[in-house]
Amino acid sequence: EKGGYDHFMLKEIYEQPRAILDTYRGRLRASQGIIKMAGVDQNIEKFLNANRIIIVACGTSWHAGLVAEYIFEDLARIPVEVEYASEFRYRNPVITDKDIVIAISQSGETADTLAAIKLAKEKGAFVFGVCNVVGSSIARETNAGAYTHAGPEIGVASTKAFTTQITVLTLLALKLAKEKGVFSESRFHEYLAELENIPAKVERALQTNVLVETIAEVYKDSTNCLYLGRGYNFPVALEGALKLKEISYIHAEGYPAAEMKHGPIALIDEHMPVVVIATNRGHYDKVVSNIQEIKSRKGKIIAVVTEGDETVRDLADHVIEVPDTFESLMPLLTTIPLQLLSYHIAVMRGCNVDQPRNLAKSVTVE
Ligand code: F6R
Repeated sequence: EKGGYDHFMLKEIYEQPRAILDTYRGRLRASQGIIKMAGVDQNIEKFLNANRIIIVACGTSWHAGLVAEYIFEDLARIPVEVEYASEFRYRNPVITDKDIVIAISQSGETADTLAAIKLAKEKGAFVFGVCNVVGSSIARETNAGAYTHAGPEIGVASTKAFTTQITVLTLLALKLAKEKGVFSESRFHEYLAELENIPAKVERALQTNVLVETIAEVYKDSTNCLYLGRGYNFPVALEGALKLKEISYIHAEGYPAAEMKHGPIALIDEHMPVVVIATNRGHYDKVVSNIQEIKSRKGKIIAVVTEGDETVRDLADHVIEVPDTFESLMPLLTTIPLQLLSYHIAVMRGCNVDQPRNLAKSVTVE
């Protein structure tokens, strides 16, 4: 049932090109120049009149929500707030009937997320679900929604759910950008075309596997690890750190790269591996200076860069290349080597990758 892979997690990492395709196929009608999403089409006025979008989720799904915040604000010009469901539900949030609440959940059973959407509904918000499990509690409680179509995710560490959540939310943002007139026809078409290139580019990002395994060998005995990124790659840094800590039990933290000098830089010495996402679009030069700051403090640098990058290659200890794409689609590619890195480190440490200690696949109690 693991399809020849040693673990479900690895199988699911490798399923991502297909899962992403399954998520947009049938919705993306490039030849007609439209994106079809029934749950959005039926409620389009609500989406177009919304004052803001509030995203509620937990864990990896919350990280997908953070990526979506950048996408919605950047592409569709809609204000977004991203909330941990557990905090949102207990802090007497201001919600009105002009708000759209998007709940993101792979399992569709997360207790805090479910409670958050019940609260939002009581306060009159329109609640939209992005779930993977069909017919799950959250899918049933929401006013409308869109499934991720990732297929069953068995490994406790979420992988293909994350990238397909980002895919669905990108489709939604593009659709709203078009409907609102924020996007020109030609820009919209460029995006549809590039989305269709993503599965093949994810496939190429997966080819870093052999290299990533050799890097894992070097750092498998580390006790700490930092992950840094800016802009669209900041949530990817958070997600990379979460993957490492949950399956390998190495303490890891993700930070926006610029926040380093406000504290975490004190941790850096020759024993500290720092994973930096330094792709060529959006704040590239700033990330390069962050890399220089780490290097001058003897931190070990594992950089995820765009294919052909030369500047970072001269500075970093290890360089992992992913294909180029639009800045807003980059998380779909930069996430891949980080998933593989945590996977290999966990395997080398003898950890139970698919069922890490103390964790459950769906957290149905708060
Ligand atoms: C991380 C992980 C958890 C879940 C979180 C939310 O790999 O699996 O952090 O992302 O428990 O779960 P869902 O998405 O099912 O609501």
